[in-house]
Amino acid sequence: MKSWILAGAAIAAMCTASAAFAQDVIAQRRDGLRGMGRQMEAIKAVTDARGDTRPLVERVDAMIAFYRGLPALFPAGSGTGDTRALPTIWSDRAGFEQVNANMITQLQALRAAAASGDVAATTAAFNQTGATCGTCHRPYRGPAR
Ligand code: HEC
Repeated sequence: MKSWILAGAAIAAMCTASAAFAQDVIAQRRDGLRGMGRQMEAIKAVTDARGDTRPLVERVDAMIAFYRGLPALFPAGSGTGDTRALPTIWSDRAGFEQVNANMITQLQALRAAAASGDVAATTAAFNQTGATCGTCHRPYRGPAR
C-alpha cells in the first residue's frame, strides 16, 4: 500500500515537473517571438525612413539564429497551457519545419538586400518576410485562448 502511495506521489511530481517545463518553454518561445516582432518593427522604421540598411544585417542575423532554434522551442507536450500553438505543429511536424526553413531562406534574402544598402530591394524583401511569417501563423497558430 505504502509503495503505491509513494509511486503515485512520484508520478504526480513528474507530471508537475513536465507541466512546469512546458510552461517554461512556452514562455521562452513567446518571448522570443515577441522579440521577432520588435526586430521587424525596427527594420520597417529604417526602410520607411529610407535609411542606411547595412546595420540591419546584425538584426537579421539574430533573427536567423532564433529561427534555427525555433523547432526545439516546440517540444511534444507543449501544446497546452498559455499558448496559441495549434496541434497541427505536432501532427504535421514536417510541414511546420518546412515553413520554418522557408523563413530562414527568406531572412537570408533580406540579409543580402540589407547588406547591399539598396533600400528598395530591402523594402521588397522585408514585405516578403512579413508574408512568410503568415505562412506559419495561418496553419500553426490559433486564436488567443
Ligand atoms: C515556423 C512557424 C512560425 C514562423 C516562421 C513565425 N511564427 Fe510567429 N508564432 C508561431 C506560433 C506557433 C506562435 C504561437 C506561440 C505560442 O503561443 O506558444 C507564434 C506567435 C507569435 C507572436 C506572439 C507572441 C506572444 O505570445 O506574445 C508574435 C509577435 C510572432 N509570432 C511574430 C512573428 C514574426 C514577426 C514572424 C516572422 C518574422 C513570425 N512570428 C514567424 C509560429 C511562427
